[in-house]
Amino acid sequence: MLCALLLTATATALGGAGQAAAATPAAPAPIGRIIPAPASVRPGGAPYEITAHTRIHVQRDSAEARRIGDGLAAVLRPATGYALPVTPTAGAGPDAGGIRLLLGDGDRALGAEGYRLSVTGRSVTISAREGAGLFHGVQSLRQLLPARVERGSRQAGPWTVPGGTLVDAPRFAHRGAMLDVARHFFTVDRVKRYIDQLALYKINRLHLHLSDDQGWRIAIDSWPRLAAYGGSTQVGGGPGGFYTKDDYREIVRHAESRYVTVVPEIDMPGHTNAALASYARLNCDGVARPLYTGTDVGFSSLCVPKPDTYAFVDDVIGELAALTPGPYLHIGGDEAHSTAPADYTAFMDRAQAAVARHGKTVIGWHQLAGARPARGALLQYWGYDRTGDAERARVTAAVRAGSGLILSPADRAYLDMKYTKDTPLGLDWAGLVEVRRSYDWDPGRYLEGVPEEAVAGVEAPLWTETISTGAQLEYMAFPRLAGIAELGWSPRATHDWEAYRLRLAAQGPRWDALGIAYYRSPQVPWPAESAGHGAGG
Ligand code: ACM
Repeated sequence: MLCALLLTATATALGGAGQAAAATPAAPAPIGRIIPAPASVRPGGAPYEITAHTRIHVQRDSAEARRIGDGLAAVLRPATGYALPVTPTAGAGPDAGGIRLLLGDGDRALGAEGYRLSVTGRSVTISAREGAGLFHGVQSLRQLLPARVERGSRQAGPWTVPGGTLVDAPRFAHRGAMLDVARHFFTVDRVKRYIDQLALYKINRLHLHLSDDQGWRIAIDSWPRLAAYGGSTQVGGGPGGFYTKDDYREIVRHAESRYVTVVPEIDMPGHTNAALASYARLNCDGVARPLYTGTDVGFSSLCVPKPDTYAFVDDVIGELAALTPGPYLHIGGDEAHSTAPADYTAFMDRAQAAVARHGKTVIGWHQLAGARPARGALLQYWGYDRTGDAERARVTAAVRAGSGLILSPADRAYLDMKYTKDTPLGLDWAGLVEVRRSYDWDPGRYLEGVPEEAVAGVEAPLWTETISTGAQLEYMAFPRLAGIAELGWSPRATHDWEAYRLRLAAQGPRWDALGIAYYRSPQVPWPAESAGHGAGG
């Protein structure tokens, strides 16, 4: 977290209404008009123009800086048409000009993910202590260029970056998005595209909901029917699918290269029909359940008294832990309506012990608070405005006893809730969640009795009962995902709906350039030239 000294950003620096009206296509938007809002913004000085002669100088002897520089060049080359050679810095100061990506910044306040970006007429310099910060700084630079820089074909310049300085670091460590690949399966390429979109907004966790009643989506060598049979369908009866271990490794690698940690979830003891269908011996009565393609919840449970259940749990968690470099393993624990409360507690004790045995940290949905959360476990809260006091109190008590908290309030952060009653996709059990509602809350003060220090961060889940295509996924995620990303990254002092909606509007042309089919919310003053998408399709 940044010290108070850096919290100098103001709504003005982040772009007020007057500036929006005055902007012309040729003038760059002021530095700071990006999402998430930077912690500190000092606009001013001459802009920098990327030209045919621009070079990207990367920290000498750093393969990581080189890779980040190559990534930036790959983004900029198609639209600019420039060569943008990536070369090591030659001990050159800012006078050498060009774009400079430097590691080893001495400012401890930047932490692992922070960066400093300064733009003058001669150079753009991004410096960070670590690779994650340098990468995040590059994402900010992308947003400071005209939206058409994201297009895949040559566009007209000029390629101007506004002058000034950003000093930026995240408010919360956990800034997540969850994708339910169980209700409908999404291919590796689809997931990689989503990761690219998350990274642009400095989201650093991808939680993959890999199993549910309707499908099992990850190959487990010791229980091969889970994927081969349990993965063979999905909601509505389509063909489903699953990730081979190599597929999963490819997702993890792609995520790592964008500083996103994959958090795999196997949901237990409920939401397990696909497993119960795959192996008769996982059922208390020894009879395999039929595959399920509907959307009910709460009807399935692993058999808590059976030893087979714990062989299964240990094997699955062991193989998944071995595949997953990140520190977390999510074991679900929600909506176990067909598991007796005492059985639930007994089961979650053993599942959490398995996670620890395989060297990972437990994340569970907040119902784990009603059992015995392991030391260091994180609870993911998905309650909403009608969640009862007793349930909230259990979560608060668990957090006071040491559990961490990830906030995914369903009536704010769930990307599968309809925007309005006319939204053709999604569900509405937690209410209608327009863009403002999704953005306009404070994770640091959300649950009474939970101090900000106990909040690990925020996460935006996208459940896919009603979502089966990439375009539908994007329509539900955008624009709300950007708001959750900002809640996770930006200091509370920057929180302001009126300023945010202007910065959000500026993302419209960028999403058009990236081919993202976003919801054109009437709450946001989209530029006339932006296209968006009228309805999910
Ligand atoms: C959930 O929405 N059942 C976590």
